[in-house]
Amino acid sequence: MKRAKIAIIGGGNVGASCALWAASKELGDIVVLDIPQVENLVKGKMLDLAQCAPIERFDCTITGTADYKDIAGSDVVVVTAGIPRKPGMSRDDLIQTNVKIVKSVSENIREYAPDSIVIVVSNPLDAMVYTAWKTTGFPTSRIVGQAGCLDVARFRAFLAMETGFSVEDINALLLGGHGDDMVPLPRYTNIAGIPITQFMSEAKLNEIVERAKVGGGEIVKLMGTSAYYAPASGVVQMVEAMVRDKKRILPCAGYCDKEYGVGGYFVGVPCVLGAGGVERIIEIDLNAGERDLMKESISHVKALVKVVREMFPDLA
Ligand code: NAI
Ligand code: 2OP
Repeated sequence: MKRAKIAIIGGGNVGASCALWAASKELGDIVVLDIPQVENLVKGKMLDLAQCAPIERFDCTITGTADYKDIAGSDVVVVTAGIPRKPGMSRDDLIQTNVKIVKSVSENIREYAPDSIVIVVSNPLDAMVYTAWKTTGFPTSRIVGQAGCLDVARFRAFLAMETGFSVEDINALLLGGHGDDMVPLPRYTNIAGIPITQFMSEAKLNEIVERAKVGGGEIVKLMGTSAYYAPASGVVQMVEAMVRDKKRILPCAGYCDKEYGVGGYFVGVPCVLGAGGVERIIEIDLNAGERDLMKESISHVKALVKVVREMFPDLA
């Protein structure tokens, strides 16, 4: 049986970490592409990573490149190309630079990997997924953004730190855009099936929800750049669901039209991920308060997409 081929565009912090997680899980052959100015750097990093194989025992090829021909035949393409934020910046501040990068990357994906499933990571996430969709013209089942896997992992990690229980038993769900107005859902959060409210006060739970919402900013403040281990882990969770056709339900930026009343944008919702990419969007019941928060988050996504459309009317 043929091994999966995974291309990662952008071999910086997130891209290289994606390669590391994907290799360690032996998900397929990996190609990491960066711009010609850093071709030797990306080739060197991937050669270094390939040399872990005998120790970590993964059988897959890992190569760095600056040539798009090398992504031909990819089953999954992960887009991490673009600048990350610095302290004091919001994800939205990256839009002017990153939309141009994601547009040009997507043109190359359309040409060199026309049958791939694309996972977008570059920020501001929800607008960059839209950019990749419009540029490639791929069906919406083959375009998705990574944000929810990371955001919900942060929420779960904080709940585990607070309660002392295993992260494995902490189940949570999160909707909306990948901004500070994302919508964690305490009502859909439990520990081993037991409602989370049994383990902590409402005030403590709200505190953790707020920390998860600004979890990206907390790391930017500490490091001077944005997170990469957990973001890459979230990406690889999605890649694994696809290349192993797992039919996992994961919170991802999927295309919603009638779903949640979104009207044709990519926002964080529970997606069924398998070999076909986003095979289904699952709608859940929301109460009035949750609906309001979702509406607010969606309006933020729409405002960002408006900026993309103004910059590139052909993407409207
Ligand atoms: P980084 O600066 O470490 O790496 C970015 C890489 O992209 C660099 O190696 C750069 O040379 C490359 N690049 C730039 N233009 C390119 C082009 N046209 N073609 C190919 N490669 C190109 O940044 P980092 O930390 O890896 O972050 C990458 C992006 O991911 C940022 O926009 C960041 O905000 C976003 N991000 C998104 C997350 C999410 O959950 N959706 C989480 C973490 C980061
Ligand atoms: C994060 O949430 C920057 O989007 C990135 O860490």
